[in-house]
Amino acid sequence: MPIITFKPGGKSIEVPEGTLLLDAAKKAGVAVEAPCGGNGVCGKCLARIESGEVDFSDGLLPRGLADEGFVLACKTKVLGGDVAVHVLSAPEKEQGKFSEVSEDIHLTDKALLPGPGDLSPLAKKTALSVPAPEMGDGLSDYDRFLRTFSAATGLREAETPLWVLQKLPLVLRENDGEVYALYAQYGGRARIVDVFTEDIAMLGAAVDIGTTTVAVQLVELRSGAILASRTDYNGQISCGLDVISRINYAKKPARLLELKDLVLQTINGLIKEIAREQDLDASRIYNASIAGNTTMVQLLLGIPPEHLRLSPYTPGVYDVPLLRAGEIGLCVNPGTLVYIAPSVGSYMGGDITSGLLCTKLLSDEEGVSMFLDLGTNGELVIGNAEFMMGCACSAGPAFEGGGIENGMRASAGAVERVDIDPGTGIAEVFVIGGGAPAGICGSGIISLIAELFSKGFLDARGKLNRSGKCGRIDTTEKNARYIVVPHGEGADGKQVVITEADIDNFIRAKGAIFSACSTMLKQIGMDFESLSRVYIAGGFGRYLDIGNARTLGLLPGLEDDKFLFLGNASVVGAYSTLLSEKHREKEKEIARRITYIDLSTEPDYMNEYTAALFLPHTDASLFLKKT
Ligand code: FES
Repeated sequence: MPIITFKPGGKSIEVPEGTLLLDAAKKAGVAVEAPCGGNGVCGKCLARIESGEVDFSDGLLPRGLADEGFVLACKTKVLGGDVAVHVLSAPEKEQGKFSEVSEDIHLTDKALLPGPGDLSPLAKKTALSVPAPEMGDGLSDYDRFLRTFSAATGLREAETPLWVLQKLPLVLRENDGEVYALYAQYGGRARIVDVFTEDIAMLGAAVDIGTTTVAVQLVELRSGAILASRTDYNGQISCGLDVISRINYAKKPARLLELKDLVLQTINGLIKEIAREQDLDASRIYNASIAGNTTMVQLLLGIPPEHLRLSPYTPGVYDVPLLRAGEIGLCVNPGTLVYIAPSVGSYMGGDITSGLLCTKLLSDEEGVSMFLDLGTNGELVIGNAEFMMGCACSAGPAFEGGGIENGMRASAGAVERVDIDPGTGIAEVFVIGGGAPAGICGSGIISLIAELFSKGFLDARGKLNRSGKCGRIDTTEKNARYIVVPHGEGADGKQVVITEADIDNFIRAKGAIFSACSTMLKQIGMDFESLSRVYIAGGFGRYLDIGNARTLGLLPGLEDDKFLFLGNASVVGAYSTLLSEKHREKEKEIARRITYIDLSTEPDYMNEYTAALFLPHTDASLFLKKT
């Protein structure tokens, strides 16, 4: 069977002849962007064949690209020999991001995190001295264990899995009955998770499942210390970039299973990596807390998500009962109880209830704040101790480089900032990791459009200046594009451009977010200026330049110090609920208290959206900087 090696990562896999490159990449755990779901129309799964035999109809690509060995991974079959393929859209794992997740903890107000007195993870441990059996006492090993356990914990009823019963006779005799029982307590009952002779460290995993990125933290439960953090791209991105395309993809049962497996592969891959690094067995992780949007949770659990798209937009489950890791397929101890953050609405999930734990919204009795999660699915909550209202809007993947001709994620080779010379119109680009630019990431797109607009090369409707004043604007009858990096100067000699269609995508994305904010505020008779704080969550929000966001009409003209960037607030919330019963209860209360508004039924929303489809807006006074 042919062996395929994927570059730049170097992962290899053996597959039967005739396998599609995209399917082989999924099997090998190589994330390849496939926003069109493998239909051969988006062009994002571009790969270059370096050696080996493949079958690809080159009519699907421009002649120049096909001649240079480029193919679409979703339409290319492996024929034979060992194939080496360079996957251009494979997002490289960003080593630098690893520490950023732990930095997120420092970005929040420490008082909002569980303190030493709050540490009450679901997994607990107790030392037991189980008496030796005596002739004629009629008690089994399990009877004696259970009696001792009940006396020590006060818990009369306990569920015990088979593998604990299997190991109990040997463990009890190994250390003369001196053992440690690991258990979870819920509603006056106990679930025995494991039994040991040695006093092992209690570890847990906090997991954030984003549509784009998955983050995992390994936490020592007794102290709350984060031992290691990892992030990786959600393996599901090879089946669609946003939640809607994944819901569509999951319509067939086999594909739902595929999506479940892909996200599990990502989570388990990260857990195993951390375990290897920490020199521990992943089955020694005894607690897990997961946060994710409503669709991600349904997909993780293999629950058909299609009703999320159909009126009245109902998911299979909002508040997931405690589940065992083994039933989900997590590679931690199979008996581990898994807590999943509750969702609020079809498009407002546990990532938001989790993120809100990093804010003072729930306890603020004076001001009113806004929590804004800038992602492919934009979600926002406005409120304080008295009330909370939330809504969601589909911004599309433009903020993360998706749906943009030369868009890419914020990884090595991405243009992250641009300065344009007002005289020549030539751009100076700043590239992540240095080197030749391969594309533009979200912050680069915002910087570029803001520069074009403020230097007069782009008008309020998002049309490029066709006067010839800027030599970098290339126009055809119907379209125009700005050449950010000319041919021959980008990675692989490619040019990097932004087209009017890309700019239009961005304007729609920022229009959707801003109009959702303004519609919600109008609903409660408020305006932006009456907000005491705007919390911005999401990996992308972290690198947002407030000035540029104001210039383009994404963020309102408030004082700079009213904006607070939280980074990945969802994983911080998962960390808190992993450790503390108080935080789990608070999160449930947040979910109960948010009134979810469906914007599609709000008559004002369309008017607000239309007004926001300009740079910055039909009412530019909303975006003047306040001091
Ligand atoms: S063209 Fe291959 S996934 Fe879209």
